[in-house]
Amino acid sequence: MINAQVIDDATAQFGVVLRQQLDRVERLKQEGDWIDYADICPLVIGVIGGDGIGPTISAATQRVLEKLLSEEVSGGKFVFRVIEGLTIENRAAHMKSIPDDVLAEIKECHVTLKGPTHTPEGGDSWPNIESANVSMRKELDLFANVRPVRVPKHGIDWIFFRENTEDIYAVGGQGVNVTPDLAVDFRVITTPGSRRIIDAAFAHARRVGRSKVTVVTKANIVKATDGKFLEVARSIAEGYEDIEWDSWYIDIMTAKLLDIRRRASFQVLVLPNLYGDILTDQAAQIQGGVGTAGSANIGKSHAMFEAIHGTAPRMVEEGRAIYADPSSLLRAGAMMLEHIGFSSLGSRLHKALDICTYERKLVMTGRSSGATSDEYGDYVLTTVEDPHLESRWLECSEA
Ligand code: IPM
Ligand code: MG
Repeated sequence: MINAQVIDDATAQFGVVLRQQLDRVERLKQEGDWIDYADICPLVIGVIGGDGIGPTISAATQRVLEKLLSEEVSGGKFVFRVIEGLTIENRAAHMKSIPDDVLAEIKECHVTLKGPTHTPEGGDSWPNIESANVSMRKELDLFANVRPVRVPKHGIDWIFFRENTEDIYAVGGQGVNVTPDLAVDFRVITTPGSRRIIDAAFAHARRVGRSKVTVVTKANIVKATDGKFLEVARSIAEGYEDIEWDSWYIDIMTAKLLDIRRRASFQVLVLPNLYGDILTDQAAQIQGGVGTAGSANIGKSHAMFEAIHGTAPRMVEEGRAIYADPSSLLRAGAMMLEHIGFSSLGSRLHKALDICTYERKLVMTGRSSGATSDEYGDYVLTTVEDPHLESRWLECSEA
């Protein structure tokens, strides 16, 4: 016997979600232009340590960036500002994914570098608050999650444009347990939300001289939402006649990233949030693990650059935090440099990281048998400053 009340309750919850999302669509339609970092002085770079190994790797990254930008810092053009309080202890104390005062501080920064933050799940020892990453992406409207993956010696040079504010993530905490036996979540894909991420992917391809964009969905099965994403892609592509594009389903895409005859042909990939979450972890593993990948969360007025791995609590418990590998956050730092208009310095830092990963003159083992985060930071710094950077990079690309 179906209980009419449970249907009414669930329908009411669906109504709440619809109202919020329709309002959001209107806001998206009104959204302004991209901020121009060249106009800003001082440009404030926030450094958010986060949890676990986060404070160690963010301090190591800040040290490297401050040295690379020493002229701008001493000339007052850039200011680094450490933001405390985005820790699981403080978030649990406030029962908020980002406490209000911390959020206000973050919003005052033009760009931020962020260490990993603990994301509780049901049954965890921490209260089941929303992920700080997801909240930050929504609060600052960081709609483009940009994740490059490069394996020069295999010809892999991918850049993923993962939509970062919609899909199952948009209302992940607002699903309904309709009865003890039936749970329903809501998946949101909007036209303006799809347009801006797909356009960002095509515009990037054009800007950096890449010839192809690959759109990934499961539009044959998930017809309304993925169908919309693909339809928007088709219309955006019409404005980029110089860029080829193709469409793949997420399942076969996961296989093709492993296909050595095929994978180097993918260049720029654009996809909805959850598929992007999963596919970019796989791609990062192909590069050498999630610890080696950086991630940019870009919006029109703010941007946040983060490590894509977790907090490694075991390393902290065992007193090994100082041996945490800062590569992922340094990669994010290189993306930040590119984003704020220091593209040649950003590109040198990327190359230095490629070299350090392949040359392995200093190795991170996560314990005292390997280097510390700061020692590795110094290795990267001396590599960036090496006049032979290009030839070392070519050597490791051909290896
Ligand atoms: C990522 C992470 C996050 C996500 C988690 C920590 C919320 O997996 O950045 O890929 O799911 O987006
Ligand atoms: Mg992920």
